[in-house]
Amino acid sequence: MAQENHKLFSHKTLETNIGWLIVFSILVISFAGLAQIVPLFFQHSTTVATEGVEPYDSLRLVGRDIYIREGCVSCHSQQIRMLSSEVQRYGPYSLAGESVYERPFLWGSKRTGPDLARVGERYSDDWHRVHLRNPRAVVAESNMPAYPWLQRNTVEGVNVEARMRALRRLGVPYTDEQIASAPEALVGKTEEDAIVAYLQGLGVAGREAAARAVLHGGEQ
Ligand code: HEC
Repeated sequence: MAQENHKLFSHKTLETNIGWLIVFSILVISFAGLAQIVPLFFQHSTTVATEGVEPYDSLRLVGRDIYIREGCVSCHSQQIRMLSSEVQRYGPYSLAGESVYERPFLWGSKRTGPDLARVGERYSDDWHRVHLRNPRAVVAESNMPAYPWLQRNTVEGVNVEARMRALRRLGVPYTDEQIASAPEALVGKTEEDAIVAYLQGLGVAGREAAARAVLHGGEQ
């Protein structure tokens, strides 16, 4: 009995003292978290863009902002998990290197509708336009809302240069020329044009990179 009391700090102290228990729990969780998270900042596969993945051009960047504004992310995820059921349905699973220019990322977690990470080039532009104006026109049982105003709103004059400069400060490699010519690409375009351009680019480069990796039997 007396021997037990010699121990300055025993497991019992930890379990019977809520203060120490909290302090040690925080220490353990922080250490475990850091051990998992910190290496990702230095790992090639999470910091370097997947081959073929480019920063968004101005029309797609504006389309992406409209996607965020309209809350599409609340029904659509943009991340295909490493499960065969997902890969069979949507295509090659998402790679970290596909998201390096995504600020903020739109991986999402709610799937009222299908995942959109690889929807690019799956349908024609016209299909998307009809679907956005009235989803029921192409998918009778769809509960997706209609977005008829997108075809009427223009994106001309949107201050896309400021957005690109802000992204450049965060590490997206836009050149001065790309930023200077950005407003030109928006002339005569509607919000619908922008969001369709955005959707048509989703996951295309990543899908091609995955196909090449399979072909060469190498790492993706
Ligand atoms: C209330 C939930 C909801 C919201 C919000 C929503 N969707 Fe959907 N979406 C769905 C459902 C359900 C489907 C499947 C039926 C269909 O194709 O319409 C779908 C299908 C799609 C498809 C076809 C995907 C495929 O692989 O067939 C695209 C593209 C799409 N949505 C884009 C969008 C965009 C862009 C927005 C925002 C402007 C949006 N969705 C907002 C629920 C939603």
